[in-house]
Amino acid sequence: TDLGQFIAQLPKAELHIHIEGSLEPEMMLALAARNGVQLRYGSVAELRAAYRFTNLQDFLDLYYEGMSVLRQEQDFHDLAMAYLRRAASQNVRHVEIFFDPQGHTERGIAFKTVIDGLWRALKDAEREFGLTTGLIMCFLRHIDEASAERTLQQALPWRDRIIGVGLDSSEKGNPPSKFRRVFERARDLGFATVAHAGEEGPADYVREALDILAVRRIDHGNRALDDPELTARLAAEKVPLTVCPLSNLRLCGVSDMAQHPLKHMLRAGLMATVNSDDPAYFGGYVTENFLAVQQALGLTREDIVTLARNSFTAAFCDEAVKQRHL
Ligand code: ADE
Ligand code: ZN
Repeated sequence: TDLGQFIAQLPKAELHIHIEGSLEPEMMLALAARNGVQLRYGSVAELRAAYRFTNLQDFLDLYYEGMSVLRQEQDFHDLAMAYLRRAASQNVRHVEIFFDPQGHTERGIAFKTVIDGLWRALKDAEREFGLTTGLIMCFLRHIDEASAERTLQQALPWRDRIIGVGLDSSEKGNPPSKFRRVFERARDLGFATVAHAGEEGPADYVREALDILAVRRIDHGNRALDDPELTARLAAEKVPLTVCPLSNLRLCGVSDMAQHPLKHMLRAGLMATVNSDDPAYFGGYVTENFLAVQQALGLTREDIVTLARNSFTAAFCDEAVKQRHL
C-alpha cells in the first residue's frame, strides 16, 4: 500500500533492540556448528516451532539458551552486522543497541570479547551503511544488584564505547528499586539511563523507574496507562516510551494487535516510539512493527510521521544528527 511504502522509506531511529534477540535461527545453527555447541533444536523449522510464547519468562528461557552459541569476538561481530544491515535496508538511520553482558560473562565469556565484537560491527556498519549507532548495556534484573555493580565496574575500561545503561529480563518481582545504587553510580559516571518497566509489571514499576532510577526513557511502559495520573505525568514530562508492538503480541501482553495501546498513547500525548525488541523471535524488524500497528489500529500518515519524529527526539545521539532528521 501507499502507507506501507511511506513507512518503509521514512527515516527512522530504533531505540529498543536487544542484539541477542536479533539472532535468527539460521545464524544460531551456524554458530552452534562453528563453536561445537549442542542445542536442543536441530533445524530452523524446529526452532521456529518453539517460538510460541505465553509470557515474558517463556521467551527469556529460550533467549538465554539461544545466546549460548555466541562465544567468540567474531560471533558478536557477525550478529550485530547482520542486524545493522537489516536495519539500514529499512532506512533506520540511527540505532541504540541493547546488549546483556551478564548473559555472556555468567557463562565464562569475557566482557572484552563481547564489546570488541559489537564495537567493530558498529564501526564497520557506520562506514558501510552511513547510519549512526550507540550501545546500551543492560543489567539483568533477575540477578542481584551486586552482580550489576560488578558488571558496571567491568565496563569502565570501555566507558567511551557505551552511551547508557538499562534494565531488562524478568520484570515481575524485580522492581526498579532493587537497582537504586547501581543506577546512581551509572548516572554519576555520565551514562544515560533507561529501564524496561510496565511490560508485564505494574504502573508502580514505571513510577519507580522515574523516581528512583531517574531514567530518561521507559522501555515498553504499556501498563502505565492503567494509571491516569501517571499517564498525565508521562505526557507533561514528555518521557519517551520505546514501544514494541510485535513483542507485546507474541508475549501475550495484548490478545490481538487491534487491542494494542499505541493509539491511546498517541492520543494521550505520550512520546511513543515503535521498535522491534527481539526481531528474530517476534517475527519482524522495525518496519514490520510499524506496518502491524498501522494496519490493526488504522494509524494515519500523521501518526506515522509523529512516531518516526519521536524516535529521533528521544534518541541519545548528537544534536546535529537529530536535527538532520527532525
Ligand atoms: N530481554 C530481551 N528482551 C526482553 C524483553 N522484551 N523484556 C525484558 N527483557 C528482555
Ligand atoms: Zn526489551
